[in-house]
Parts: sequence; structure tokens; C-alpha cells
Amino acid sequence: MIGIPSRYVPVLAYLLLRGAKKNHIRITTSELGRNIHKSQQAASDQLRELERDGFIRRMVQGRSMSVRVTPQGYDGIVGLYESLRACIESAPASLELAGTLVSGSGEGRYYMALDGYTKQFRKKIGYVPFPGTLNVRLDADSVVELDPVGGTLIDGFSDGQRTYGWVRCYTAMINSRASCDLLRLERTHHDETIVELVAETNLRKELGLDDGSRVTISVAP
Ligand code: CDP
Repeated sequence: MIGIPSRYVPVLAYLLLRGAKKNHIRITTSELGRNIHKSQQAASDQLRELERDGFIRRMVQGRSMSVRVTPQGYDGIVGLYESLRACIESAPASLELAGTLVSGSGEGRYYMALDGYTKQFRKKIGYVPFPGTLNVRLDADSVVELDPVGGTLIDGFSDGQRTYGWVRCYTAMINSRASCDLLRLERTHHDETIVELVAETNLRKELGLDDGSRVTISVAP
């Protein structure tokens, strides 16, 4: 639970860095303003508000002022820290995509059967794909960029006559039923709305799919 207004965070962070959890520290409003990228007047207003809300104590002696962060102010920062840490450290979610099955130009079965690819598929993702790729046209809100360095890299190669581009395989499930890999291809005729899947099995048969069938793809984190 974030128990502290976010506008107070820069001032409290600055004060705590200066040791104001335990000590009254001397500050001037112009120095504080410089450090929180605000005017001297804005820094002065913030100190007044922070005191009014119970997050700091101020002692004014003539022209000099010393400030201490109260336990309530410190707890507020700790609460914020814990919330942010939970955001960052929580288990990564899988990427959920949805779309419609479409046919391609029939090239997938040629490329996926090339030795230069099949040897690497066997070694790196543990199976030789059914020859072909299952093409899915993604819904508009499913068109997202995959981690460009994620997944498993299948290197490009040359057969002496021509070169073939690299492929990245992202472990996925289709319709929560069959495991597959979503491909990102160095060379493709498709725009980013079409993704191609490979699997050990014929997915159309296994899942009873036809052009126009709705599919969901869950890409592992
Ligand atoms: O390009 P197109 O989708 O027409 O064909 P392809 O990539 O050569 O794949 C041959 C056929 O197998 C297509 O109908 C694919 O949708 C299908 N396929 C499948 O059902 N399961 C796979 N694991 C791969 C391809």
C-alpha cells in the first residue's frame, strides 16, 4: 500500500539521504529547491505541507532551519519501496495473444524442412517441427513486439547457393492445449499482424482448426 502522496517523495528521499531519519539536519529552501528541481518557493511550500501532514518536523531558529523525517514519513517511503519492489519482482506474466487462423503462401513447409533449420530445431528446441507454419492474423490489440533478444535463436545459414535468415523461437501454447513455438523471422513476407507457429504435430488436425478459426496463443515469459 502506497501511503504517501507521490509529490512528497523527492523531498523525503532527499532528506533521508542526508540522514534525516535520525537527525535534525540543517537545510535551506534554496538548496532543497535545487535538489528537487523546483523553485525555492515551491520547496518552502512543500516543507510546510509535509509538516502539516505529519511527515516531517521542522525547527526554525532565526534564519536557519533544521528538519527531521517523522516515523510516519519514513514508513510512507518504506511502503512505497515495498510496493515498487513487488511490481518489479512479481512473477512475469505470460503474453496472451488472440487472432484468427489464415493460410499463407505454402512456403512454410519448404523452409521448415530444410536441414539447416531442422538440425538446429532438434538440438535447440528439442523437436523437428511438422513441416509448415501455422499462420495467425493477430487481433489489433494483440500486435505487440516480442523481446528482440528473447527466445531461442536458430541461426541463419547458407547452402552454398543462397542464404537463409535467422529465426527466434518463443515457447508458447495454442488454445491452452498444444505446445508450440511462436517464430520471429529475420526474413518474412508478412507484416507484424501475422505470426507463425511451429509445433511437433499438425496443429490443424490436432486442434480441429480451419481458416477463420479463433485461436489464443500464450507465450511463456
Ligand atoms: O503457408 P501456409 O500456411 O499455406 O502453409 P505451410 O506453412 O506450408 O504449412 C502447411 C499447412 O500445415 C498449412 O495449412 C498450415 O496451417 C498447417 N500447419 C499445421 O497445421 N500445423 C503446424 N504445426 C504447421 C503447419
